[in-house]
Amino acid sequence: MKNTLFAKDIVTIDSLSKAEIELIFAKASEMKSLVKSKGGDQRLSGKIITAAFFEPSTRTFSSFLAAAQRLGAGVIAHNGMQNTSVAKGESYEHTVKVLCHYSDCLIIRHPQPGKPKEASEYAQVPVINAGDGINEHPTQALFDTYTVVKHFGTVDKLNVALVGDLKNGRTVHSLTKSLTKFGKVNFVFVAPDQLRMPKYIKDEVSQKGSLYKEVENLSEVTSRCDVIYMTRVQKERFTDLAEYERLKDFYILDRKLASNMKKNALIMHPLPIAAGEIASELDSDPRSVYLSDQLSNGMYLRMALLDLLLRK
Ligand code: NCD
Repeated sequence: MKNTLFAKDIVTIDSLSKAEIELIFAKASEMKSLVKSKGGDQRLSGKIITAAFFEPSTRTFSSFLAAAQRLGAGVIAHNGMQNTSVAKGESYEHTVKVLCHYSDCLIIRHPQPGKPKEASEYAQVPVINAGDGINEHPTQALFDTYTVVKHFGTVDKLNVALVGDLKNGRTVHSLTKSLTKFGKVNFVFVAPDQLRMPKYIKDEVSQKGSLYKEVENLSEVTSRCDVIYMTRVQKERFTDLAEYERLKDFYILDRKLASNMKKNALIMHPLPIAAGEIASELDSDPRSVYLSDQLSNGMYLRMALLDLLLRK
């Protein structure tokens, strides 16, 4: 297949076709073999990738940097912009233009929705959205979808529970979009009333021919689910911290609650676990992939994306 991703921006899942996602997945599998056989190669030698993270990050930042370096690219790494000219008042437009001048790809995380898209209007190089406020986190969704597809071979008819802060969680917004590109999923959106999935996402699910239902009680659904995707209540999006305190541990998936889950199910989380929403006793459960496949697939998939965006 022709590489239609060359020089493309990845700011939303919406802009990717199913064929493009399949191309990314095939390349991610190649990257897995490459890393396992020799750690990487030099195919991006001579290229420089800039990461500009206006919000905290451990995994996304580190795995993008690892991905770039495993393919021989150089990196300009800003994990937090407080030591850049942003602190002196430089505009976002100038910051983006300056960083692009030195590099071949810009990876941006920002607290405000739409900022990576805005950057793509100023940038001469491809822009990757590494999370924009409560909006989207497309690369996370791609490797989460990859993890599900690799495990089950399909997404069709899977019962997928997305649990927690579905209102503010950008990972679940993008994940819903990417799973429904792949097939007809039966979603269960598990959230307290204050944190329900936004209507526009639910409307998209229906338009794409997938099904969803909304419940508040997690224990009602655990036995039927193929995937339980837990999320953190997004403290930084709350203006009322008392409300956050009331909601932060609304769901705790522990061994007891997981005991009636299917043997072949997946327990997923984008991480970080911040309020014990998955009990640490489940870290070593064979169904848990948040400290294993999700992490390694994240790096393989980001290697794949950099390769496809930067080389014809
Ligand atoms: C997520 C994020 O930043 O949206 N983290 C990540 O990138 N793995 C999830 C979260 O912070 O809750």
